[in-house]
Amino acid sequence: MRSLMMTLVCFTPLVLACGDKDDDTGATGGGDPDLERAEQLWEDVQGYSAWDQVEEWQGVTFSEDGTHGEYVQIWMNADAFATVEAAAGGDMPDGAIIFKEAYDSEDESSLNSYTVMQKDSTYGTSGWFWAKYDTDGSVSGTTYGDVSGCSGCHSSGQDYVRVISW
Ligand code: HEC
Repeated sequence: MRSLMMTLVCFTPLVLACGDKDDDTGATGGGDPDLERAEQLWEDVQGYSAWDQVEEWQGVTFSEDGTHGEYVQIWMNADAFATVEAAAGGDMPDGAIIFKEAYDSEDESSLNSYTVMQKDSTYGTSGWFWAKYDTDGSVSGTTYGDVSGCSGCHSSGQDYVRVISW
């Protein structure tokens, strides 16, 4: 019974800690602070599925442009969501995080990647730290940090946010 439980837990894509995540500590090394930050951000966002979703984007939703998949699901942490709710305009506060799951189809099992943006007004050209993760939670190649491909397309949104303005 216990091993069945473990199997179930490990099958949940959100509980990637069942993998070898802890073994990664320091293993990447190389002195790339942005990579370390991306790995830390992954730890920090765990539990995101309990975060809020804006009204127009509840659950699995058809993507506006399919950049990361035909369907997406988007969550905001408390700082980000409170800003949208306040509808007072301006930029997101430092610490705001928006998290997106992307799927190939409407079926959540077709998950293909995670993309995350973390507000840090002193960082990079956009004031956001960007990161993409593979489905096992590992940082996707070199797609982390001040990623111009991400910020370039997102620059059309209010403070680089595409799903909603406030
Ligand atoms: C070609 C345009 C384009 C590029 C490139 C792009 N995005 Fe997006 N992104 C969008 C659109 C459009 C949305 C709105 C939701 C949807 O339709 O998928 C979005 C939504 C998001 C969201 C949810 C918050 C928001 O802004 O709406 C996150 C997080 C995100 N993208 C992260 C990233 C990251 C990280 C990268 C770079 C790896 C990236 N995006 C590259 C177009 C883009």
